[in-house]
Amino acid sequence: MLKNSSAYFVLWTLFQFLVEINCQMAPPRRDSHTATLVDNKLYILGGTGGVIDESLYIIGNDFFYLDVSVPFNTKRLLWKDISSVNTVPDHYDATSVKGGPNNNTFFLYRGTKPKDNVMMPLVYTFDPQSNSWTIPKITGDNTIRKDSLMGIIDNNGKMYLWGGGMGTDDTLVNDMLILDTINLSWGKGSSVGAPTPRINYGAILLPNRKIIYIGGRTGYYLFSNNTLAINEVYLYDTDEDSWSTQSTSGDVPSNRHSFSSVLGLDGQRVILFGGFNANITIAPKDSLYVLDTSTFEWYVPKVSGTLLSNRYYHKANVIGKYMVISFGTYYDPSEESHILLLDISNNDEYKWVNDFEPPPPSPSPSSKIPTSSSQTSTPLSLPVSSSTKATIIGTAIGSSVCGALLAVICFLLYRWNKNKQKRENAIPTPGNEEGNKYNHENLIIPKRNIYNQGNQEQEKITGDNHGSEIIPVVGTSTLQNIDNSDSALQQLKNEILQTLRQEFMQNSGQQNNGK
Ligand SMILES: *[C@@H]1O[C@H](CO)[C@@H](O)[C@H](O)[C@H]1NC(C)=O
Ligand SMILES: *[C@@H]1O[C@H](CO)[C@@H](O)[C@H](O)[C@H]1NC(C)=O
Ligand SMILES: *[C@@H]1O[C@H](CO)[C@@H](O)[C@H](O)[C@H]1NC(C)=O
Ligand SMILES: *[C@@H]1O[C@H](CO)[C@@H](O)[C@H](O)[C@H]1NC(C)=O
Repeated sequence: MLKNSSAYFVLWTLFQFLVEINCQMAPPRRDSHTATLVDNKLYILGGTGGVIDESLYIIGNDFFYLDVSVPFNTKRLLWKDISSVNTVPDHYDATSVKGGPNNNTFFLYRGTKPKDNVMMPLVYTFDPQSNSWTIPKITGDNTIRKDSLMGIIDNNGKMYLWGGGMGTDDTLVNDMLILDTINLSWGKGSSVGAPTPRINYGAILLPNRKIIYIGGRTGYYLFSNNTLAINEVYLYDTDEDSWSTQSTSGDVPSNRHSFSSVLGLDGQRVILFGGFNANITIAPKDSLYVLDTSTFEWYVPKVSGTLLSNRYYHKANVIGKYMVISFGTYYDPSEESHILLLDISNNDEYKWVNDFEPPPPSPSPSSKIPTSSSQTSTPLSLPVSSSTKATIIGTAIGSSVCGALLAVICFLLYRWNKNKQKRENAIPTPGNEEGNKYNHENLIIPKRNIYNQGNQEQEKITGDNHGSEIIPVVGTSTLQNIDNSDSALQQLKNEILQTLRQEFMQNSGQQNNGK
């Protein structure tokens, strides 16, 4: 009896372990996605997983959100998967805002063709109330398709789509396209005095209704001297439809693009995180800067807590007292969460933290309306320590394999129960040599050196079929990981089957002896 219960315990542990790592879906790392905050949900859509086998790996129809109305820890994120309602074609380098007549619609803009050459409509809208995507009818002529830009929404529901590119280095533009998200019409703003054409810049709406534009690059090729300086910033006055140039002073960040920038809680400071420059390695300690827009002086903020790596191609949103950084590239998902939280409530010292405390509920009309999303969503609980394997294994292995494994385990359990003979060594237990094969470590894919800050030059570079867009490859590609984890799983399966066979042999032997 005692033997039995310890056997159950071992099996149960194994069972839980397998359930945890294999039967959970978790979003893989991505970059050049969109992260949109609507009704206390941070929606993640689109993006790429980097260059794999010389072509760009585009994230499929993944669509999920993080509920930010409740506390969470970045090491245990509860993603809600709503991919089943996603009708937007695979894409990356899009931009999104929250707008619309009720100020709770998610607008997605992407001009250029996705990889499969399917021309996706310019604008999609997502209504969180009905959990559905729509291709809105927009009046006015616009055939301009741009990507790698930053859409900014003003307080009148107008979305400003300045600059960007159309897929090749010689099609970067500096025009101002304006989408009225309330009456659904296209308009155009001035480009007199606008900065030179660029992509992957930073942009923020300031309380004085001017949009500030920072940095960027003059071409798609990642490893070239195309990164723009940040000592000059540009202001677009949304009231006057006019541009001005502002020089900055202080501790100006080195040239960079593909960083994130947000407005601080005082409405005065612009906080910049991450970015890339082929010619300068941006270290974690060099990844955070603040621009005081009352003096246009840059400084390096005092910051506590730990940041393991710089990121680029990520997104950032201000939620409550945090700058919430999502996904991106150049971090190791087995070591660092897809989500970083910078507590920006104290201007004298920002803090990298893991625990998110939701802001007190604000009496906004839209947040009072109950949404139906909880009915169609599936909670995905994911400890970050196992995120890599959960991600890769979870993605790689369909639920059928998962189910088969569970069936095997259930069968084992059944046999175990039926056969009351002692057999201490039939099943590997944690701690013994065989049991160690079940250790998490053996299922983890080799580390990606590429995340190492000093190794930027090692990144492989390849163009996708735009002929110009370059995304850095990560040492071990996602697809390769899938192969690895597949074989790891195969090994695990084999071991279980072998154990099962042993079980049978022993059992039948014992039965024969008894006869
Ligand atoms: C929409 O909501 C945001 C806050 O989430 C607010 O800053 C903005 O002014 C609102 N826009 C409109 C048009 O009401
Ligand atoms: C939408 O609003 C803009 C100004 O914000 C106006 O110029 C345009 O005519 C309006 N379009 C429609 C269809 O109402
Ligand atoms: C910047 O880096 C690129 C690629 O690594 C190189 O071709 C270029 O010469 C560098 N420029 C400078 C100024 O170092
Ligand atoms: C690299 O770019 C910077 C600024 O864009 C420029 O000052 C510098 O001369 C460039 N270097 C080369 C080698 O092209």
